[in-house]
Order: sequence, then C-alpha cells, then structure tokens
Amino acid sequence: MKLLIALALVSFAVGAFSQCACQSSKWALCDDNPCQCKLLVGDNDKVDVDCTKLIPKCFLMKAQMRRARKGMDTRTIGGKPVETAFVDNDGVYDPECEATGKFKAKQCNGTEECWCVNSAGVRRTDKGDKGLKCEEVVETYWMRLQMVHKELPTEVKENDLKTGIENAFLSRYQLPKNFVDKIEYDKDSRMVIVDVKKEIGDRKIDLAPFGWYIEKDIKELPQFLKGDNFEASVGGQKMQMEKILVYYVDEKAPTFTMKHLTGGVIAVIVVVILAVVAGLLVLYFLRRREQARYSKAQPREMDNM
Ligand SMILES: *[C@@H]1O[C@H](CO)[C@@H](O)[C@H](O)[C@H]1NC(C)=O
Repeated sequence: MKLLIALALVSFAVGAFSQCACQSSKWALCDDNPCQCKLLVGDNDKVDVDCTKLIPKCFLMKAQMRRARKGMDTRTIGGKPVETAFVDNDGVYDPECEATGKFKAKQCNGTEECWCVNSAGVRRTDKGDKGLKCEEVVETYWMRLQMVHKELPTEVKENDLKTGIENAFLSRYQLPKNFVDKIEYDKDSRMVIVDVKKEIGDRKIDLAPFGWYIEKDIKELPQFLKGDNFEASVGGQKMQMEKILVYYVDEKAPTFTMKHLTGGVIAVIVVVILAVVAGLLVLYFLRRREQARYSKAQPREMDNM
C-alpha cells in the first residue's frame, strides 16, 4: 500500500518535472509523453502547434487577443533568464563572513535554522537545522536586473539605452562594460532588463557588491555617501529607475525542493493518492465478498454429502 502510493507519487513527480517546452512560443501549453504543445486561441479553443517552427501569425494574434481580453501579460520580455534562476525572498539577515568579506557557505542568522548561500549571500537551498552541510559557496555568475524607468519626455532608443546603462554602471559601480551582456527594453511597460554576466569560473570580479549597491540605489536607500539617485544618461535624457527585481543564476543549479509544487499540482497529487486508496479499498472489499461466498458455499456441499 505504502509502496503503491510512493510509486504513484514518484511517477507523477517525474511527469510534472520533465521538460516539454515550446521553443517558438512561451504562451503554448505542453503535455509530455509524447511532447505536444497547444496554443489557447479562444476560451475553449486550442490548436496544436509545431514548436520547432514559427507558429502561424493568425494563431498568435488570436492568442494575444485572448490574453489581452483576460488582462494577461503580453509583454515579451522579462521573467527568469533560465529555469534555474531564483530571487531573494528572504531579504537581509545577519551573515557570517570570511576575513576577505566573502559569505560563508552556511548561514544561520544567529538561530538554529541554517541554509546554504551563493556568493551573493542569497539562499539557494531549503532551510535545515544546524547540522546542514554546505560544501562550498557556489558562485553567482549572472544577475538579471529587471527594472522600470521613470517616465521620460521623449522615446528611448535601444542603442542609446545600452550605452547609457554601460556608462552609468562603469562610473557608479566600476563595473567593466563587457559585463553588461544584454539589454532588453519594452517601451509600453518602461521595462529595462539588463543581464550582467561573467565567464563561468571567473573569480576576479564579485558581482555581489554590485547587486547590493544597485538595489539600494533604486530602492532609494543609497549606500553611497553622496546620496544622489542612480541615473543613466540615455540619448541626452536623464533616466532614473523606480523598481528593481534581481534574478540570480549560479554556476550550479540551486537545490530548493517542492518549490514547483504549487496549489494546482498539489491538488492533482492529492487526487492521485485518493484514487489509489479508493482502488485498493474496492479491491479489498471485492476479495472479502469472494471469501464470504466461498465460506458460505462450503457447508452446503457438506450437507449434500
Ligand atoms: C534574521 O533574524 C532577524 C531577527 O534576528 C529577522 O528579523 C530576520 O527576518 C531573519 N532573517 C532570515 C532570513 O531568517
């Protein structure tokens, strides 16, 4: 019985986590085994799509209209840079530091509850007790800054934006320009996405302080003595930011567990367990009835004799 439930759970979990994603549209919904993706083009209207090819524009337009009607996000930028990226949900704690100023791998915030952090001091494991082992500090080599700029009188050109951001990061945070990997911009939401990335294995520059300073600056609690706001000169305009969200990507994937098991998935697991239990109960009662019939039949045969 226990084994059966465990098996059902494991097979379900494997199904839920195996990746079947649609390269040609992030709006598509995919099922595994075999991998088949569909696009919702109306409230009860799905079409099969081939994710290795561009999806017909008409379907995409329909899908976009449906999303717009639903007030869903139709922006095409933003979000996690990769599946293994994560954000800092804990905020500030009282860390243990090396003499060099680097984070120790294991952090307990002065309590009995501990966790492992990356080189930016952000938790990358579940919380455990004091016995938790953290082998090493895993390096954060990529940070995605998702920011919103304050309104500007004239439209922003993407080329000016890249130059402006690179210059501002260099002069304000001494971040060499080649660490600004990619910039994306969505003018309707005023969203600016900057990927700050170094080579895997590079230990010459630590991205952690940069992340701290820019977050403080944009949250208007500047760390610098000169308390002026972060500002990038973009095509002659002074661009300021009003929101920031940072995604961290480490050289090794984090080891959070059960994080993906949000409401819907948990509900499905519960249903699966209930179905297994119900099935077993039915089997049990059927067998009992069979046995009862058999033991009733016995004496009659004896009578005949
Ligand atoms: C660390 O401890 C302080 C109080 O001592 C608490 O306010 C804070 O939320 C804790 N942070 C974490 C991440 O546990």
